[in-house]
Amino acid sequence: MTPQTSTQTVGTELLSDPSIHDAFNTIVDQVAAYSARITEVQPPTADLKVSFQQMLDDAAKIKGRGLLYPSISSGVGNGALVEMADGSIKWDMLTGIGVHFMGHSNPKIIKAQLDAALLDTTKHGNLQTSYDAVTFGERLVKHASRTSDLAHAFITTSGAMANESAIKVCYQKHAPATRVIAFEHCFMGRSVTMSQIGDSAAGRQGVPLSTQVDYLPFWDQAKADAMGGDTKYIDWMIGRLEKYHNRYAGQISTFIFELVQGEGGFNVSNPDYLKALMEFCRDKRIAVWADEIQTFGRTQEMFAFEYYDLGKYIDVLTVGKMTQACATLYTEEYNPKAGLLSGTFTGATVDFTVGNALLDELAADGNYGPNGKFAQHHAEFTKQVQALAAKHPDWFPETPSLTGDLAGGLGGMMRFTPFGGDKDKVIATCKAAYEEGVICFWCGHGPFHVRMLPPLPVMKMEDWPRVFKVIERAMSKVAGA
Ligand SMILES: Cc1ncc(COP(=O)(O)O)c(C=O)c1O
Repeated sequence: MTPQTSTQTVGTELLSDPSIHDAFNTIVDQVAAYSARITEVQPPTADLKVSFQQMLDDAAKIKGRGLLYPSISSGVGNGALVEMADGSIKWDMLTGIGVHFMGHSNPKIIKAQLDAALLDTTKHGNLQTSYDAVTFGERLVKHASRTSDLAHAFITTSGAMANESAIKVCYQKHAPATRVIAFEHCFMGRSVTMSQIGDSAAGRQGVPLSTQVDYLPFWDQAKADAMGGDTKYIDWMIGRLEKYHNRYAGQISTFIFELVQGEGGFNVSNPDYLKALMEFCRDKRIAVWADEIQTFGRTQEMFAFEYYDLGKYIDVLTVGKMTQACATLYTEEYNPKAGLLSGTFTGATVDFTVGNALLDELAADGNYGPNGKFAQHHAEFTKQVQALAAKHPDWFPETPSLTGDLAGGLGGMMRFTPFGGDKDKVIATCKAAYEEGVICFWCGHGPFHVRMLPPLPVMKMEDWPRVFKVIERAMSKVAGA
């Protein structure tokens, strides 16, 4: 919304009209009254079976492929609980793969959505905008620049588009260098370029390979131990990076860092490894680009680069998912020439009003740090997994090549590894959990893990045993199958 000055425009008067905000507050309260009726997991309602199946059939027909989960919500929820259109109520431990971090029917989000409804247009553009896109970018830069030189934010509509902008910024700065270094098992999005960089064969099936990518392994503690220690692993990998650098002298534009891997398996790195690689890049004039589209907001600091204390190395950074609108941030040095970045849309008003509400919520005291709310949730999640494994050791056999513990990840990126990380059984666990009342998903490329991206700002500690009771029921079905 536009800043207040002593001379009012019609717009500033409208946006601050008390009668409108009274009406909004009435709506927020009324939504809260409906939301309060959602209190416990429940199975589908028999009467809604036929109409719900019709919705699923329509969805499959229009997309050309059935939904992976029969997941269509009714439009109301309560915190981490969501009601589906078939009348069932489930714990949403996936939140649209990390998008609805503020949970369901959150009064602050309902209010931010109503505020957006007042504006004269739905969409903001690069050529013509109203002020909300600006305040969103300002907030992002303010937080990011606490411990980095990031100075500008280019706003866009999806994570893949933010990454497309990032790679162009790196290419332009280091032209004519065109090569890219990435971690094995990384995920970058589904545009033509990003699906080439993302390390998944299925993601680039049939896509012309025009982007030159070389891969380095992500951190692997088990391998480091086998090699005789962390330093040996780091030195070995720096040696590999040096080989790429010598082989392609002057041709490497950027190293893309997913600081905690998302799709690749919620793999957590060793800070010294990241630091050594980034030092190398800085010395050799290779852009350091952190893709924080999945990590942003969720780790023990607002940015994962802060958690790892890497701010001074970051040239370019991308955020998305929970931020609603997505963005590419860069330092003054990487600010591209006019004409490189644009596009019709920066986003919808509601992306910015909700995005701003989310950023303010994250910035409130108590969320971050080793003893912050998000770390406490992770500890409680770990406790629940350990208790489940102690009760059912046969569901948690040893997992070949598991890096990390049975329960892993960081902050709001949570994973656990049942059934030895077997792909079919992990997917069956997620599907059975869905049926029983917990929405979660899988990640990794072997071993496979059950992953959760829960709405931590609205989760209560006492929710965890309730969630895991449902998971236990689901796993007993898979174990008994
Ligand atoms: C690390 C990372 N980068 C990029 C993307 C792509 O974001 P989007 O799906 O919004 O295009 C994702 C999405 O999962 C991601 O996890």
